[in-house]
Amino acid sequence: MVYISPSILASDFVILGEQVAEAQAGGADMIHVDVMDGVFVPNISIGFPVIKSLSSHFSIPLDVHLMIDDPDRYVDLACTSGADFLTVHIERLRDPKSTLERIREHGVHPSISVSPKTPIESVFPYIRDADMILVMTVEPGFGGQHIIPETLIKVRKLRDEVNRRGLRNYKIEVDGGIRASNVATAVTAGANVIVTGSAVFGDPDIPSAIKSIRSAANGDV
Ligand code: DX5
Ligand code: ZN
Repeated sequence: MVYISPSILASDFVILGEQVAEAQAGGADMIHVDVMDGVFVPNISIGFPVIKSLSSHFSIPLDVHLMIDDPDRYVDLACTSGADFLTVHIERLRDPKSTLERIREHGVHPSISVSPKTPIESVFPYIRDADMILVMTVEPGFGGQHIIPETLIKVRKLRDEVNRRGLRNYKIEVDGGIRASNVATAVTAGANVIVTGSAVFGDPDIPSAIKSIRSAANGDV
């Protein structure tokens, strides 16, 4: 099964609720929420009040991606605000295992992310502590960028490693530059959770954009 997680970074925030409702009705499996602090990445996006509002209005799982300098300071707040999956970057964790455990204690799925320049082997020791690994397919910070094709080699290596450990259906998420035209290559490499921002919320017809990405991911087109 391939999960589609549209990123609201590309949404129109004046009508965020309407657009999330369209994505939910249009078959999205989760909603990806990018939290940026202007320090870990050169951009500032949205924060916990928005997560709280979304979680009180929608049943769709919230896939929260923390791109912040000191994630340990904010994981509790992210969890209590309503995250269902919480992704933290390995580049900013002092003790990844304990952060992932803390997230799990909140009943939230822990996830760990690697930026393009970080070797994928760095997350291997934490595969069992996380329910998902996010492989960044662009440099984090902005939507609407082009995929860095070499990052899919990391996805392949990670899928081979989880298979070697007998972890079937382990969630490997790709994030950045994914659209209908390249999603099949990401799925072939081993991704099964697809973040897509501009290709969904940049399209006037959100449900049809989700449908095209899903068909392409399933190899139907
Ligand atoms: C980038 C964010 C992504 C971004 C994806 O730093 O983590 O989630 O919103 O947007 P697109 O799909 O437009 O590349
Ligand atoms: Zn993201």
